[in-house]
Amino acid sequence: MDKTINVGLIGFGTIGSGVVEILNQNLDLVEGKAGVKIRLKKVVDLDITTPRGVEIDPKILSTDVSEILEDPEINIVIELIGGYEPALSFILKAMENGKPVVTANKALLAKHWEEIIKSSKMNNVRICFEASVGGGIPLLGPLNESLAANHIQSIYGIINGTANYILTKMTEENRNFEDMLGEAQDKGYAEQDPTFDIEGFDTAQKLIILTILGFGVYIKQEDFHVEGISKITQEDIKFTQDDLGYTIKLLAIGKMVNGELEVRVHPTLIPQNHLLASVRDVFNGIYIVGDAMGPVMMYGQGAGMMPTASAVIGDCLDIIKNMDKEVLYGPKYTQVKKIKDIKDITSRYYIRMTVIDKPGVLHEISGILSDLNISIESVSQKKRSEGGEVPIFMITHEALEKNVQMAIKKIDKLDVVKKESLFIRVLDE
Ligand code: HSE
Repeated sequence: MDKTINVGLIGFGTIGSGVVEILNQNLDLVEGKAGVKIRLKKVVDLDITTPRGVEIDPKILSTDVSEILEDPEINIVIELIGGYEPALSFILKAMENGKPVVTANKALLAKHWEEIIKSSKMNNVRICFEASVGGGIPLLGPLNESLAANHIQSIYGIINGTANYILTKMTEENRNFEDMLGEAQDKGYAEQDPTFDIEGFDTAQKLIILTILGFGVYIKQEDFHVEGISKITQEDIKFTQDDLGYTIKLLAIGKMVNGELEVRVHPTLIPQNHLLASVRDVFNGIYIVGDAMGPVMMYGQGAGMMPTASAVIGDCLDIIKNMDKEVLYGPKYTQVKKIKDIKDITSRYYIRMTVIDKPGVLHEISGILSDLNISIESVSQKKRSEGGEVPIFMITHEALEKNVQMAIKKIDKLDVVKKESLFIRVLDE
């Protein structure tokens, strides 16, 4: 091995430390696969004094990013600082200077995709981002390359570890939402602002990237439905699990229906015998259906220091082996004719209402549903509290979303309805 590839790492946080640790532990293995020597030449961070618990030569640490971006000897730049700025400027500068980039920055890619890819093409340098979705799971490479012969029909992803951890503990240990969020933060799974995890925004950013690679279209976050898990209660979990045989998961959905693409993020009832229902704790699972291949499922750790760093190093190898490859992102072909508005989708729905327990209430509710062409599959009232409040749980047959939204609005205006109702869509696939 005569050739040496010099790597510059911007961001010595959790994942950055993982990159250093993998290179400390597995350098021979990685170099053997790459066929070149790999040298971590510079690590830049604002804080270079706090110990990270990994061995590193202090001489390679710096607070000056130009020591990476302007160093002609650096062949690959790894960006792991996250956020929008200065990450965007660093990435653009690296590419302008002819350096391929590896990043895990899903937020940046989701928001500034067009600008980043334009720069990548213009400068003819690659940008790889396997670690941005599903952490350590090899997902984007297979979706882009191995499944290239397929029209992707659907992608269903449990791609936020924190939300999955919270829902799993609420389901299996009857724990409450707030305690579980605290635990996920303590364990380092959650984003800096955990509302990104629980309100679905982190999942949405990852879905944008999956949609680009899977369906060949770039859609901005404000243009599709994003709903989190903060309104899910123990009652919803218990009833849908014990009486109906479903598990509630926060799901990213990209689905082709007659040439139109549904893109959405929301809690979803998943049949307990579906593979996705077995994706528990902080794990991620992505279920993809292609027209030639049928279903394939990828499973693994979607967050954390070493799994994510594993994907970053994998991308470095990809770049080393394909240095001369022409940059080709954003497929020239797409099967998508239109992005479907959530109001136009159809689904079965679980509905939870809180009503006064007295004669005639169900009659009023079912009247509203029937006027909007929503047919009830089953209905259940668990408690008796004459004149008091009780929850009513309902499953509908397949219905049009805009009718369900309208029905809930009308139902919530009834005097006998005492709390905001909740509906959850059902996965039937
Ligand atoms: N906060 C994210 C999660 C980290 O919980 O999955 C990985 O993107």
